[in-house]
Amino acid sequence: MTPKSVRITGWGMYAPQRALTNVELERVVDTSDEWIVQRTGIRERRIAAPNETTATLSAIAGKRAIAVAGLKPDDIDVILVATLTPDYWMPSTGALVKEAIGNTTAAAMDVMAACSGFVYAYSVADAYIRSGMFKNALVIGAETLSRFLDYSDRSTCILFGDGAGAVVLSASDEDGGGMSGLQMTTDPDGAYMIWLPSGGSRSPASGQTLARGEHYVRMEGKETYRYATKTLASSALTAIERAGWDPSEIDLFIPHQANVRIIESVAKGLGLPMSKMFVNVDRYGNTSAASVPIALAEAVDTGRIKMGDKVVLVAFGAGLTSGAIALEWTADPLNGRRAETVEPVASVREPQDWSSVDSIPERLRAILAGGPPVPLDDVVPGEPEPAQREVPV
Ligand code: ACO
Repeated sequence: MTPKSVRITGWGMYAPQRALTNVELERVVDTSDEWIVQRTGIRERRIAAPNETTATLSAIAGKRAIAVAGLKPDDIDVILVATLTPDYWMPSTGALVKEAIGNTTAAAMDVMAACSGFVYAYSVADAYIRSGMFKNALVIGAETLSRFLDYSDRSTCILFGDGAGAVVLSASDEDGGGMSGLQMTTDPDGAYMIWLPSGGSRSPASGQTLARGEHYVRMEGKETYRYATKTLASSALTAIERAGWDPSEIDLFIPHQANVRIIESVAKGLGLPMSKMFVNVDRYGNTSAASVPIALAEAVDTGRIKMGDKVVLVAFGAGLTSGAIALEWTADPLNGRRAETVEPVASVREPQDWSSVDSIPERLRAILAGGPPVPLDDVVPGEPEPAQREVPV
């Protein structure tokens, strides 16, 4: 049976305890707290502990969202984890999360659309439930980006952080509420603006790729910035128009937390004050697919979203992708208190007969230990590859 609407019934987030400040980064790269704050708005970002992974962060945020929805783990029919930093290439992080949250029945998989991943995964879950196939979906955005950053590259290591956010989407017999407008775009012209060169089938990991630092995120910051400022406001506007609404009716925007200047340009593009934009990039940096659900959970839990509010989620990321959802909030924000019953611990089963290496990149480990800075030339990133189009087949 098809439902009358698909609504958010649960939400939750988890961020690792350790905050890495701009001042700490000053010790390993040629940067300053002042530069980072002025150009990005970021003051600190969270760093996963050695025993934490994308799956463990996901499981805690997911369990919190399930508790807030008033459900049991086995009530979830499908688990979608949006991430660009999975625990492994296979199995999916979703499969590990399913076991870690104590679910025995759901289908589980990952969704890959970089920082837009949560919006994309939400739209998939919404479509499943709308079709009548599933009743409850757990949609998670989670990242451990600190494991994929070159802490000698000041253009990337200052930007990103770790964390997870989640929502439960549920079938409802009541009319209205939930997603009313959706817009998603993918623009492969910018495919190499943000990329991680090695480890895939085009360039499998080898001693050579490691020596060239190709297992780290690379980014053309200026071009990405231009794309974001061009795309975010128009994606949001299209989703709002598809909902039949006007931007002035929106109570709160939850934009991808990449850079406060990008968020300011969204406000300007839509002719709205910054008070309509939720901002927490100062405390978490860019947590990619986790950024929108973390911000959403914080916005609800801090009283910025009330029942009946019109809310827009909007993101952009590698691909280049963008996505926006215009939705009506229907859940009681007080349900958020149920998340407090969930301990911030998760156990993800380790494979037998295998032990991983230390999960924290060496330079980052030195910063976290508060020890002396690692000399700047100990990572050999090699010649940066220019952004280029795929060779036509
Ligand atoms: N500290 C100090 N100086 C720096 C730093 C730093 N951390 N990084 C760059 N600089 C220098 C540059 O070398 C440059 O120096 P120069 O003028 O001598 O050449 C100068 O600062 C200006 O650099 P720009 O790159 O022009 O700085 P800009 O104002 O564009 O800000 C930034 C850079 C913050 C990266 C910005 O371009 C940005 O936010 N881009 C978007 C990035 C983004 O959102 N990425 C996430 C995508 S989501 C995903 O899918 C993963």
